[in-house]
Amino acid sequence: MAFPKIKIGMVGLGTVGSGVWKILHRHQALLSQRAGAKLEISKVIVRSKKKKRPVRLPAKVLNSNIQTVLDDPEIKLIVEVMGDVRASRQLALKAFRAGKHLVTANKALLALHGKELFQEAKKNRVDICFEAAVGGGIPILRALREGFVGNRIDSLYGILNGTCNYILTEMSERKTSFPETLKQAQKLGYAEADPRFDVGGIDAAHKLAILVSIAHGVFVDFPKIFVEGIQGITPFDLECADRFGFEIKLLAITKKNGDKIQARVHPTMISKDSMLAAVKGVNNAVFLEGDFVGEGMLYGRGAGSEPTASAVVGDIVEVARNILAKVAYTVPPLGTHAAHIGNAAIEPIGEWRGPYYLRFQAIDRPGVLAQIAKILSEFGISISAVHQQVREEGREVPIVVLTHDAQEKSVVKAIAKINRLKNIRRATTLIRIEEFCQ
Ligand SMILES: NC(=O)c1ccc[n+]([C@@H]2O[C@H](COP(=O)([O-])OP(=O)(O)OC[C@H]3O[C@@H](n4cnc5c(N)ncnc54)[C@H](OP(=O)(O)O)[C@@H]3O)[C@@H](O)[C@H]2O)c1
Repeated sequence: MAFPKIKIGMVGLGTVGSGVWKILHRHQALLSQRAGAKLEISKVIVRSKKKKRPVRLPAKVLNSNIQTVLDDPEIKLIVEVMGDVRASRQLALKAFRAGKHLVTANKALLALHGKELFQEAKKNRVDICFEAAVGGGIPILRALREGFVGNRIDSLYGILNGTCNYILTEMSERKTSFPETLKQAQKLGYAEADPRFDVGGIDAAHKLAILVSIAHGVFVDFPKIFVEGIQGITPFDLECADRFGFEIKLLAITKKNGDKIQARVHPTMISKDSMLAAVKGVNNAVFLEGDFVGEGMLYGRGAGSEPTASAVVGDIVEVARNILAKVAYTVPPLGTHAAHIGNAAIEPIGEWRGPYYLRFQAIDRPGVLAQIAKILSEFGISISAVHQQVREEGREVPIVVLTHDAQEKSVVKAIAKINRLKNIRRATTLIRIEEFCQ
């Protein structure tokens, strides 16, 4: 049976783009049967046509002018895997206005300009799909939009950045420092040359913005998401976590709290017995609680050429099926119909209540712990455990305190006061503890 042909223009042929090219060629027959159409990438846009590529493609396919995919009337679908936010936004808006559908892997683009893009896609009755933007090969967005559609999502916890999870796993298992482990991650290709977006939590926050939108049917003002990276975590913190029965993970968290929505990314202590604690190395996972389905977790490879390309191809097939059926926008991209999506009321982090791990760097003198305890109590914070590993009179030592539930703004004020004590030598480390899925 001859299949109708759907021509695709792909912008970018790097890590993800070459994976997409590979899958579409290796699985050409299979994908034709599944999509009901022959999927052909007829143009690929790159910056440099001379660069060596991991895939071979006909010279006539490669081009360096983005406009050529926009101007080609035979191209109905554009796959954007270039990663430049400004250029991608321009490309997306022009594509929609030219009646072309878009598949993108660009989380920053959606976190920063999602609202504008969704509105423009709807106006022009074209699809915008972005499964690869969150969790790489894990189809979490489709699961939230479709499989879990019967549920209110009460909470969601994601390990969404493989670089951070790799670093924390290695630091915990090998007792290595953050800078040393980061270097190792860069050597192995698990961290970028400029790792600030990853280790600073921004990458995870971009992904969280998309998850919050789909989980709760809201637009998110990205700067309102609280973000803290993993740079301040030490092997000592990981050792203490272990002693108290915890693991430290960089978690992206969203929960509903009445009318307010929590959206935060930060290092988090979680029980060693929880399923998320078992997610090691570069892997990603999303644990969620739906009011009817209960607890569930999706796990897998969150980045890399082939897992990410797998998610892009899933989107390509969805769009191809829609093109054949002459429909678009049948599943709203955020899972909620546009007329019913409001702006999220994000709860400020100061309102968060929970237990804390606090590490004070203090000069070991009689009475220091009593001073710390007194200030914590002034702010209504009660202590559940204290740990001081070494005693070296007159030297700087770490003193660890675990608290019962306390409000973040009180904890921050108490720490500010404690940091001013003359026996406190460095800013205090604060790590939030989450109690779930025990
Ligand atoms: N890598 C992953 O594991 C992963 C996972 C999930 C999502 N993503 C997202 O996928 C997207 C692509 O990531 P990647 O890792 O594949 O990036 P990459 O390896 O750096 O590849 C980017 C590609 O886009 C091309 N390009 C960049 N700017 C361009 C421009 N202004 N005009 C034309 N072509 C341009 C580059 O051309 P040249 O080759 O000529 O330089 C290159 O082929 C990003 O949005 C990223 O966040 C990546």
